[in-house]
Amino acid sequence: MIKHGLQIFACSASRDLACDISQRLGMRLGQLDISRFSNDNLRVQIQDNVRERDVFVFQSFTEPVSEHIMELLITLDALRSASAQRITAVIPYYSYARSDKKDAPRISITGRLIADLLHTAGADRVLTMDLHADQVHGFFSVPVDHLTAVTLIVEHFRNRYDLSNMVAVATDAGGAKRAGRFSEKLGIPMAIIDKRRVSDTTVKQGYVVGEVAGRDVVIFEDEIATGGTLVSSVDTLKAAGAKSVHAAATHGVLCGPAIERLRNAALDSIVVTNTVNLPAEKRLDKLTVLNVAPLFAAAIERIHSGQSVGALFE
Ligand code: R5P
Repeated sequence: MIKHGLQIFACSASRDLACDISQRLGMRLGQLDISRFSNDNLRVQIQDNVRERDVFVFQSFTEPVSEHIMELLITLDALRSASAQRITAVIPYYSYARSDKKDAPRISITGRLIADLLHTAGADRVLTMDLHADQVHGFFSVPVDHLTAVTLIVEHFRNRYDLSNMVAVATDAGGAKRAGRFSEKLGIPMAIIDKRRVSDTTVKQGYVVGEVAGRDVVIFEDEIATGGTLVSSVDTLKAAGAKSVHAAATHGVLCGPAIERLRNAALDSIVVTNTVNLPAEKRLDKLTVLNVAPLFAAAIERIHSGQSVGALFE
């Protein structure tokens, strides 16, 4: 079934996911030609007619992040110049959501800057998933549909584990709301670890607020980046007497030392989604990757036909 007026494109970081979504919607993925001039400048050419179309363009902000952001900005501008009627930037993983506050002197709140750049480049809307903090939504001056993978992850745990002894854990106070929503949906109690970030790759954790001794715990996060938070949390929870430790996060960024750290950590299982494309060498045996394509496909259908996206999660 070809949907009249709907067109989906993917920049280089999100081709697999966008391809899956196009197939689910019974459409062909639009053609983009992304190349580079000899002076290293990027060039993007849209290969399909997009006049008066409702266009969705996918790009997760994964490594090399600056390159991928630039690709998306140029693509948005090219789509606008080609007379697309409405352009939605679909950013399954918005990495700069972590740069959401002025926590040191003379720094940029880059999450806000990138939101402005997307609008300037031509995005009329943004579709994204599990931003690092809910309030990042407010950085955008265009409408944002903010999806969540919580229901998907909840189903995973319901189908696989005995929940009677399980506790959800937030790795710091900032993640308490997120873990609270997860624990509520699973109908299990929650605990919080006291955490301070020492550097980009290491954290320091102290006491655990809540009961974890003898329990099966599931650490619930927005993302696993270097794995520093996760391995420190595993150690803290084991020292506090946890029986087994599982980890769940929407975005499996798995950068820098993450794979080595996770391989060696006393984790019983790890579950992430495919908002970030994971190459085969990062797919550890204990890692499960859930597919967010059905959720994004449903959201796109609803946005295109003017139906509620919130209703997807009711
Ligand atoms: C931090 O506030 C986030 O919720 C995650 O804990 C963090 O992004 C994970 O980063 P890393 O894996 O590098 O510790």
